[in-house]
Amino acid sequence: MKFHLLTYGCQMNVYDSDSMADLLFERGMSPAASLEDADLVLVNTCAVRESAQDRIWGVLGNLLTWKKRRPGRILGVTGCMAQNEGQALVERADYVDLVLGPDGITRLPELLDEVAAGRRGLVDVTPESTPPEDSLWHAPLAAPQPPRYPRFVSVQKGCNEKCTFCIVPSVRGFERYRPIPHVLDEVKMLIEHGYREVTLIGQTVNAYQYGDADFAELLYRVAEVPGLARLRFTTSHPRWITPRLVSAMAEIPILCEQIHLPMQSGSDRVLRRMKRRYQAEEYFQLVDALRRATADKPEPLAVSCDLIVGFPGETEEDFQRTLEAVERAQWDSAFTFMYSPRPGTAALRLGEPVPRPVAHERLLRLNDRVKAVGTALNRQLLGRTLEILVDDVNEEKGVLCGRSRSMKTVHAPIPEGRRAAVGELGEVAIDFAAAHHLKGRVVQAELCAARGD
Ligand code: SAM
Ligand code: F3S
Repeated sequence: MKFHLLTYGCQMNVYDSDSMADLLFERGMSPAASLEDADLVLVNTCAVRESAQDRIWGVLGNLLTWKKRRPGRILGVTGCMAQNEGQALVERADYVDLVLGPDGITRLPELLDEVAAGRRGLVDVTPESTPPEDSLWHAPLAAPQPPRYPRFVSVQKGCNEKCTFCIVPSVRGFERYRPIPHVLDEVKMLIEHGYREVTLIGQTVNAYQYGDADFAELLYRVAEVPGLARLRFTTSHPRWITPRLVSAMAEIPILCEQIHLPMQSGSDRVLRRMKRRYQAEEYFQLVDALRRATADKPEPLAVSCDLIVGFPGETEEDFQRTLEAVERAQWDSAFTFMYSPRPGTAALRLGEPVPRPVAHERLLRLNDRVKAVGTALNRQLLGRTLEILVDDVNEEKGVLCGRSRSMKTVHAPIPEGRRAAVGELGEVAIDFAAAHHLKGRVVQAELCAARGD
């Protein structure tokens, strides 16, 4: 039997999809070469914005046709939209065979047994009820070959923050932290499979705690795993950027010069209404502290963030504070979103969202500002030599692509008569900089082995 996984949304979903693939391998199933080749399709969904859900409804509509083309095909919906919709999902789309929430991943095999026994329309959205320390983690036991980057390692499930716009806490539940030995085992497994870089993930990853250990301690421990060349983490919440974490950023050589630190708005009034529990100035101070602490590392620290426009009650003046924040924080890049009202969230009681055309116009102005700052920061890298980890090779075009330590996308021609492989580290001299990528030439021969080696 062949399976196909369609993954939408954040890093957590990417990780969950890998875990589900692993469980399917254990059942003797194998990945389908194409959708048409598949007997089972799992759609791993996102519910963070309404647009994400709308898109997935469209995909499910198309999968009805896929199902009808061959009897016996199985369609499952997993992830945040599965959790959010539950029974309502099979009522609206009665051709969906199973609906499974993010806490139920380890029960996927049981559900498939039930489907095999002829049951349909199964819904399992029971939140995990075990104490956090007994939380179930299904770590992938194997890893895709050749290595595929970024490679995530989940260290935290759920979110304890109560941002008034966000549906994540209600669909992913409270924070649960993965025991350090489990995290280390997974990182060691990945190293054995040839991986050299991992990214620790959680919704508020830096709120991690396990016994007496905080997130900084986890970083020190992971960094000791022999063979690991680069370490990253995401997503951080400003409230949990502790002095210990700032020191860890400075002290751990393999910890990369990059942090994703959502700000959401530059206006203190809006931040209060979002219940972000920090003020704009505190955010800027944290960024300054992180930049100072990492000043001696190979690359300038790259800071990225998430920003929302059109939050209920956001005035033009509030929005101006967000525009000013782009200059002040000097973000290398930002994910910018138009506020989307989500069911069950507190922001629904904060009044009407800003009219769509106004929010859209703000989004465009914000994107222009972010792009200008990002381009200027990238231009400062012209003439420098950056270490990259190759994550894509296009032999036909003779081009390789990789990420620098600060997560910059770098393209370079593969030197004449040589070949490159995903997962190699090397150095590239930068001679071109745009908003979202850099280009250069390979200056370190090790990067590309001679053809025929
Ligand atoms: N800590 C999370 C992470 O790992 O990225 C953040 C959760 S959410 C998946 C990612 C981003 O989506 C948030 O930082 C926020 O900017 C945006 N977001 C969440 N809810 C939203 C909403 N209702 N409307 C618009 N954007 C939203
Ligand atoms: Fe959502 Fe805020 Fe948590 S954005 S995931 S409630 S930190």
